Amino acid sequence: MSERWTPDSWRAKPVQQMPQYPDAKALADVEAQLTSFPPLVFAGEARNLKKALATVAAGDAFLLQGGDCAESFAEHGANNIRDLFRVFLQMAIVLTYAGASPVVKVGRIAGQFAKPRSAPVEKRDGVELPSYRGDIINDVAFTEEARVPDPRRQIEAYRQSAATLNLLRAFAKGGYASVENVHSWMLQSVSDSPQSKAYADLADRVSGALDFMRACGLTFAVDSSLGTTDFYTSHEALLLGYEQAMTRVDSTTGDWYATSGHMLWIGDRTRQLDHAHVEYFRGIKNPIGLKCGPSLKTDELLKLIDILNPENEPGRLTLIGRFGHEKIGEHLPAMVRAVKREGRTVVWSCDPMHGNTITSNSGYKTRPFDRILSEVRSFFAVHAAEGTHAGGVHLEMTGQNVTECLGGARAITDEDLNNRYHTACDPRLNAEQSIDMAFLIADLLKQGRAGKASPLQAAAGL
Ligand code: PEP
Ligand code: CO
Repeated sequence: MSERWTPDSWRAKPVQQMPQYPDAKALADVEAQLTSFPPLVFAGEARNLKKALATVAAGDAFLLQGGDCAESFAEHGANNIRDLFRVFLQMAIVLTYAGASPVVKVGRIAGQFAKPRSAPVEKRDGVELPSYRGDIINDVAFTEEARVPDPRRQIEAYRQSAATLNLLRAFAKGGYASVENVHSWMLQSVSDSPQSKAYADLADRVSGALDFMRACGLTFAVDSSLGTTDFYTSHEALLLGYEQAMTRVDSTTGDWYATSGHMLWIGDRTRQLDHAHVEYFRGIKNPIGLKCGPSLKTDELLKLIDILNPENEPGRLTLIGRFGHEKIGEHLPAMVRAVKREGRTVVWSCDPMHGNTITSNSGYKTRPFDRILSEVRSFFAVHAAEGTHAGGVHLEMTGQNVTECLGGARAITDEDLNNRYHTACDPRLNAEQSIDMAFLIADLLKQGRAGKASPLQAAAGL
């Protein structure tokens, strides 16, 4: 029998990666204030995402999840949001058209503020300070004062999430995302790039198909499925006090939902079976993710699945592998076999970013495009071999023309990193590299489909 769950039952458990606030009263005041604020997302939306993820688990759609490693207060603005949304739409159309798969779009956005850190302190030139833990907790500036956790930042993170979501909803439902705009989504920064030609060709073919459908009498009004899109939000629910304050009872079902984002995930550093994060997650009904790194044992994974998805509900749990290009072959097949053997329904997703971080010769934290791609390829190969579905990818990416990851079609070098290295935390794929990646993934999706007999072929014994 599992113990009774309440939104604050996590407080009785050991917890990792949470800040120590010096002013307990200020923290309590902020949490009380957040509890009275309106929800950012609604339970019905979270349920719709869960249904969409159930189609991913069944192999009938592909999950594209991505965005900043850490959103920042300083970078908050309409252009950044629009550019990420636009690159998302471009990637989704590439995957839908070239990869022939519907795409479930989930941003790491409108709440992706709290960061787990490998080390509690950061050293620079002999000075040691507490690590930066994301803008919802402390400030990235390397001063004693900036690194003190400040609870008022939670109010600012809520405000920014609300403003971001407001714009995303307008983009998704107000006409911008209409497939008729497929040409105008081409970003300025991408329009002279090596893959802009591939994208323009694809956009021409999509437009041609639309012309044909229009000639047949179909329209693309903003209330039609081609005139709007569904775009969901997600983040790592690390800061449990904030999450608790945003956890509400859904009046329709009486169930508890996290209302800080549609999908929340548990990070690789906070997935201990008997600790606070797993306790919090087991009680919310949202679709959730679990990061699975090389240190996760298969039997531990099965226990986590029992706790987090006891009813084996399709779409509830997404397992996000982040092993590294050299380690995925060693770890993923055993996990896939065990989950299949136990009859557990999950979405398998691949985070090819966090296991492939290196320090470049010039000292930048970076990720080589080839290694990212190599992990994605292995992910598809493992699922093809095991007869399971390569469900999706989880990327750190931006719509901006940054130089943070090495390689890609424009072959960013170590010397280039210095030009536009802007991330507040981990290195992201830039807009070109993201679209590049979408074309490469579309090829893998197509190959996967070609390898599978259609039901008709199967019936005919082909
Ligand atoms: C992240 O997604 O930014 C992250 C910290 O990942 P992980 O928990 O997999 O290391
Ligand atoms: Co990261």
